[in-house]
Amino acid sequence: MDTNKRPETMERITTMELANAFIEEQVKAVREQVGDGKVLLALSGGVDSSVVAALLVKAIGKQLVCVHVNHGLMRKNESEQVVEIFRNQLDANLVYVDATDRFLDLLAGVSDPEQKRKIIGKEFIEVFADEARRLEGIEFLAQGTIYPDILESIKQAEGKKAVKSHHNVGGLPEDLAFALVEPIKLLFKDEVRVVGEALGLPHAMVYRQPFPGPGLGVRCLGAITRDRLHALREADAILREEFDTCGLAEKVWQYFVVIPDIKSVGVKDESRYEGWPAIIRAVNTTDAMSATIEEIPYAVLHKITNRITQEVDGINRVLYDLTPKPIGTIEWE
Ligand code: XMP
Repeated sequence: MDTNKRPETMERITTMELANAFIEEQVKAVREQVGDGKVLLALSGGVDSSVVAALLVKAIGKQLVCVHVNHGLMRKNESEQVVEIFRNQLDANLVYVDATDRFLDLLAGVSDPEQKRKIIGKEFIEVFADEARRLEGIEFLAQGTIYPDILESIKQAEGKKAVKSHHNVGGLPEDLAFALVEPIKLLFKDEVRVVGEALGLPHAMVYRQPFPGPGLGVRCLGAITRDRLHALREADAILREEFDTCGLAEKVWQYFVVIPDIKSVGVKDESRYEGWPAIIRAVNTTDAMSATIEEIPYAVLHKITNRITQEVDGINRVLYDLTPKPIGTIEWE
């Protein structure tokens, strides 16, 4: 039987009852697969790896070792939330690695988007591999692979070209070729969310908007500098806060701030004030292949503009990107 193929008889998980049945089944399957072995998981804080972590904590408790690599390109408070939920609330075995300097030093001066992605992807694997080597007795690697990932690799194996390279934790070095544990690999995203809620993960984490692996690295356009990255993180946090407040967060598929590497002239306290523009992107889509623009009310745009320009050092303009996909991709890089 091809274990990477979803059986036609498999019912779509839409209710808590179905989710609980799935969880019971996977808890049993994972216990059978790993016995008393140790399992390693790269926990990014995204929906998929978080659901796998919660499921494995339930199945094997402290036999699971989660490693959270903070590459310094996370959104505001994101890494802190991972620690709070998994270490403090779920009592998971969590190794937190702050690798900000490693990533930002390597990225200094690099402006090509694909080069940036390659550096981030490669370094991510290296930091994770360093941690894995430090840990003793690991036999298994858990991954948050979901069914669209499997369908996508089939498409790529058939020679269809990807527009941008994406990374995950595939491709660990030979000496770390662990057996894989992939408990949600036959699920679609909506099912993963229902399972996440059934496992008791917070709604905001389970319904979190998609966030690219290279994180803010592809939103701090061109060569990343620490000051512009800081401004981006703060401006993005304001956007998310205001979207939460006005109810747009529940409605819009993906929304974020981008900061290009240009400055314009402004005026502040009667003096010349050169600053970066913050660009707002807010799109709706079902499959990320094409996307339309959300019509944000002007009052909300004004409030966000006022807050960002007043609260974030270095930003003197706010723009709203009205470009659909195609022609623009969702991310700017
Ligand atoms: P684009 O920009 O290609 O984005 O229209 C489509 C979706 O993919 C996300 N994206 C990425 N996700 N690594 C990821 O894990 C990446 O390098 C990457 N680039 C884009 C993007 O956020 C959107 O949801």
